[in-house]
Amino acid sequence: MEFRDLKRQYEKLKTSIDNNIENIISSTQFISGEAVIAIEEALAEYTGARYCISCGNGTDAISIALLAYNIGPGDAVFVPDFTFFSSGECPAAIGATPVFVDVRKDTYNIDVESLECTIKKVIKEGKLIPRVVVAVDLFGLPADYDAIRSICNKYNLLLLEDAAQGFGGIYKGRKVCSLGDISTTSFFPAKPLGCYGDGGAIFTDDEKIAALCRSIAVHGKNADDKYDNVRIGMNSRLDTIQAAVLMPKLEAFKNYELEDVNKVADFYTEKLKGVEGLILPKIPDGYYSSWAQYTVQLPIKVNRKAIQEFLKNRGIPTNIYYIKPMHRQGAFLNTYSAMAECPRTDELCERVLCLPIHPYLKENEVDEVARTLKEALYG
Ligand SMILES: Cc1ncc(COP(=O)(O)O)c(C=O)c1O
Repeated sequence: MEFRDLKRQYEKLKTSIDNNIENIISSTQFISGEAVIAIEEALAEYTGARYCISCGNGTDAISIALLAYNIGPGDAVFVPDFTFFSSGECPAAIGATPVFVDVRKDTYNIDVESLECTIKKVIKEGKLIPRVVVAVDLFGLPADYDAIRSICNKYNLLLLEDAAQGFGGIYKGRKVCSLGDISTTSFFPAKPLGCYGDGGAIFTDDEKIAALCRSIAVHGKNADDKYDNVRIGMNSRLDTIQAAVLMPKLEAFKNYELEDVNKVADFYTEKLKGVEGLILPKIPDGYYSSWAQYTVQLPIKVNRKAIQEFLKNRGIPTNIYYIKPMHRQGAFLNTYSAMAECPRTDELCERVLCLPIHPYLKENEVDEVARTLKEALYG
């Protein structure tokens, strides 16, 4: 069994993916061009954002978004403590200070009360200027945008949606990638919508910010002339071949994959409910997940390594996202960012276990994972 079976997906989409790749190769249009424009238009239409600017990966997407708003040294960027490294790495890389905030144990997403407490603490200390909240749609589930938005309004903060894992999710009728002032995603192969290498995108409704992002992503170019460089930028474009791969994948995602992965998650929830001490992912009313991961919390004091080993010996791969809170990462050692107190994240890092999930997983395979997990826990 594969954790995320990209081979099964390829078998199904092989003809259109191969044709699209061949077309790019025979046209020799390897950088930018029609395929990139077409996928940007399709992504903007799907998400409901006015502008989509594709780029090299989901990490660059966050950095470009922060640079477009002139975030830098002296600025506090509030980031959930339970997320992939990029969410905090990007603010740090441009000289701002990531300030880590605890998450909720039921949704794994940023806890709004902790967010407000942390903002107040930073204001009271008076050393950093609160500028941005990075809301991560962890494991495919949108964060609580109404509550986060009202905090952002109250403290005049930019809301950046890191939807690297959330593409396809829905929050109260609105699609992920349209929920922040600016939103970013990743097309890393294992993501809900993945390409065959690195890829990413930025979404915004603001024309000026969209133009700035496009400039920053291509060496700070002037809008009309790529050899007139008006600011310091970077080289971060979506490869044309990746754009061509994404097109049929987006169609499959819209037509059945998103629905199918939700069925797989429902099977898991049905088969695992009631297992003593096991906490299953919660999808609150009005939310729809794209299930980048199906993450459970094992009963307290269970030997997680032994459970993983048991499953592995039966051919079932698992992963731990995430094993370390952001504020405990070595990269932040001896910095202000390391001083966060996030007890719920500490506990989650000890307890979580991610089970195989993807749209092509069959009900009998889910059954096998569920039965084996129960056996590993209780014999
Ligand atoms: C929450 C989150 N943010 C950002 C990223 C960065 O995306 P990429 O790997 O495309 O740079 C990831 C990727 O794993 C992620 O999970």
